[in-house]
Amino acid sequence: MTVLLTGATGFLGSRIAHALIATHSEPVVVLGRGDPSHLRARMVEALRVAGEGPFDGRHVGQLRCVSGDVTKPWLGLSPALYARLAGEVDAVWHCASDIALTGERERLYRVNVHGTTEVLAFARATPQRCQLVHISSVAVAGARPNGRVMESDLSDLHGFETHYDASKFTVECLVRQWAERHSRPVVVFRPSIVAADRKLPEGAAGHSLSVLGDMLEAVSQGGAPGIPAQRPGARRLTLRLRVPSDANFNIVGDRYATEMMIRIGHDRRYQGAAAHTFHVVHPQPTPLRDLLAVIEEQYPGLRIECADDDVPDPSDAEQFVAASLTGFLRYCRHQRVYDRSNATAASPGLADPAPIDAAFLRGALGVTRRGADHSGSTR
Ligand SMILES: NC(=O)c1ccc[n+]([C@@H]2O[C@H](COP(=O)([O-])OP(=O)(O)OC[C@H]3O[C@@H](n4cnc5c(N)ncnc54)[C@H](OP(=O)(O)O)[C@@H]3O)[C@@H](O)[C@H]2O)c1
Repeated sequence: MTVLLTGATGFLGSRIAHALIATHSEPVVVLGRGDPSHLRARMVEALRVAGEGPFDGRHVGQLRCVSGDVTKPWLGLSPALYARLAGEVDAVWHCASDIALTGERERLYRVNVHGTTEVLAFARATPQRCQLVHISSVAVAGARPNGRVMESDLSDLHGFETHYDASKFTVECLVRQWAERHSRPVVVFRPSIVAADRKLPEGAAGHSLSVLGDMLEAVSQGGAPGIPAQRPGARRLTLRLRVPSDANFNIVGDRYATEMMIRIGHDRRYQGAAAHTFHVVHPQPTPLRDLLAVIEEQYPGLRIECADDDVPDPSDAEQFVAASLTGFLRYCRHQRVYDRSNATAASPGLADPAPIDAAFLRGALGVTRRGADHSGSTR
């Protein structure tokens, strides 16, 4: 079964590519940016990271790389190659996206909305047997503050936190319409925050928590407005963040998320003119205070306080942190939970993931326990 995969150089796409190639021995055609040899080199490295070890030479023949761009007509392919691939593939997994949470509307819509329109046009040219899998996000729930979000829900009633949310919502609407108009089933996955519980090698595609961990480390090493670089005996620093103290968010491990998506998107066939939608989430939300405790443990002297309202007279440091984490802090204000009935019913036998504990969060942030080791002398 030949799979065409977009976004394969990214954090999630590389894990899906690895599972398809190494575990399921499927031929995978990667459509990505850059010239073919450079794209191939990036892919082999991304597969090595995703597989947590050398990419087995036996599988190299299953990887084909074609240079393309989802925002371009014919996906940036020649008409001949476009037609050949459309006739050849049995599944299209669309994972390419611009994930800049606070990015500008035009930029996000160009890749996410227009790019998906081009992928849908390609999928339309494939045989009826070809299954389309679209990677969406729980962010389609937008600014909905609370309640149980069902996998069938798709509404703009509450508005959106960011242009990213709005773009992912718009795309899901397009995907649903496409399925109905062309009588083709589509599998839609809505992951929450997918994170790896281990430090990623330098240069590897990261996830939200690894990016946060890198930012904290850079600030700790080099300082930032109002934040002196960390050094032994550094003075205490208190940061007030405008986020409820009982806030939580949903983090799901990359191994579990990938396994669930492969079991549902690859191992099962769907029928009917409909989008079959699955929340790829952890059964339990992670309290924000757990993440903050790990950060405080890592940076002795740092204390983070949560405030329900605007922080009065914010310091330079507080303004810097609030501006750097705008998107993240907005999502933390939600109290909603995600129903996963469809996803668990469609992946029987897949055990629930382990809790997201301090060890997971340390690994995801890419930090050592050095703060904990010294905390006795600094507090
Ligand atoms: N990671 C998460 O926690 C998470 C959570 C929920 C949903 N998602 C969804 O999962 C999908 C993948 O996310 P990710 O975290 O893996 O993102 P990522 O690491 O930023 O990867 C994005 C991928 O899209 C590719 N891409 C961007 N613009 C493109 C274009 N014009 N043409 C072709 N390829 C293009 C990138 O290629 P380059 O390498 O060339 O830039 C990269 O391979 C997205 O749809 C995202 O919304 C992710």
